[in-house]
Amino acid sequence: MNLSAVFALLLVNAIASAQGFYQNTDVFELSPDSFDEVVLSTNYTSVVEFYAPWCGHCNNFKGAFKKAGKLLKDIVNVAAVNCDLEINKPLCAKYKIEGFPTIKVFRPPKYSDKNPPKSKKALMKEFVDENYNGERTASGLVGFSQTRIKSYVRRIFGVDVLQKLLNKSSKIKMILLSDSKNKPSVFLKSLAIDYLGVAEFGYFDVKSSFPEEKIMELTGLDNQAMKKPMFLVYDGNNPTNEPKIITGKMTKQSIAEFLLENYGVKPMEGPGSEKHKTLNLLKKGKTLKQIQKKGKNNRKKSVKKSARDEL
Ligand SMILES: *[C@@H]1O[C@H](CO)[C@@H](O)[C@H](O)[C@H]1NC(C)=O
Ligand SMILES: *[C@@H]1O[C@H](CO)[C@@H](O)[C@H](O)[C@H]1NC(C)=O
Repeated sequence: MNLSAVFALLLVNAIASAQGFYQNTDVFELSPDSFDEVVLSTNYTSVVEFYAPWCGHCNNFKGAFKKAGKLLKDIVNVAAVNCDLEINKPLCAKYKIEGFPTIKVFRPPKYSDKNPPKSKKALMKEFVDENYNGERTASGLVGFSQTRIKSYVRRIFGVDVLQKLLNKSSKIKMILLSDSKNKPSVFLKSLAIDYLGVAEFGYFDVKSSFPEEKIMELTGLDNQAMKKPMFLVYDGNNPTNEPKIITGKMTKQSIAEFLLENYGVKPMEGPGSEKHKTLNLLKKGKTLKQIQKKGKNNRKKSVKKSARDEL
């Protein structure tokens, strides 16, 4: 290698490390703006690593953190703040970061009828953060952060509970039928969070407390059909209608498509939502300003277009 090639290589490395560890991965590289958007304006739990590129422990941890980002994609937001960057220093000071890496888990407030959501600004103050001091491995982090996901899923252990849920509001009701344990899965909890305010979620605890015959009677399913996991989807406006059924391979994407097609609803977060688009662009390195500007232009364009269509 000649000398200029070496310099070129050094330059590339310098630029890469100035930007941070996690470009083009499933981990968000945050600045103060995007921190508010990704961590504090969501109903997701987030894991945030505060790091410095020169720190040896941070370098050692990089691979595991990327892996955690991949495993927790669309379930928990995994993000990093490079505390070496001038722009991030106030953020690292705010959270009293003294050593690197410091890993924190941020949790949103839990909503209920008694604690309805407030303004965006007020909500930001209600987030709780705690240090993660467990093993610095992907599985350690994944396991821990999953225990920090809020549950909005109702366990249905009686006909009256189902009736109450169906009568509760005009929202869509998604009832999971599976030979589930007595806890909702991480996937189900996370899906319920995507649809907060849009749909209500519950699950039958078939094995231990809700008799199969009762479910067959309520749903018209036979007991062969009940061997497969499925969602019974009740139309919030017509709760007495037969439920529609989602079964087969269920992903957030396929469920979002089903609900959009059949009920015209979109999730607030996660695949299929506007928020998800914004987050994907942030992940690709776009700034919030660029994204918002583009959004505005697109809206203008579509207004113009529809005005034209009317002529
Ligand atoms: C739910 O509504 C149905 C009919 O609309 C009614 O018969 C039933 O008593 C209600 N159940 C509960 C638990 O409120
Ligand atoms: C979080 O959930 C609350 C309660 O339903 C809702 O008002 C708010 O819009 C949700 N936030 C996001 C970012 O979807």
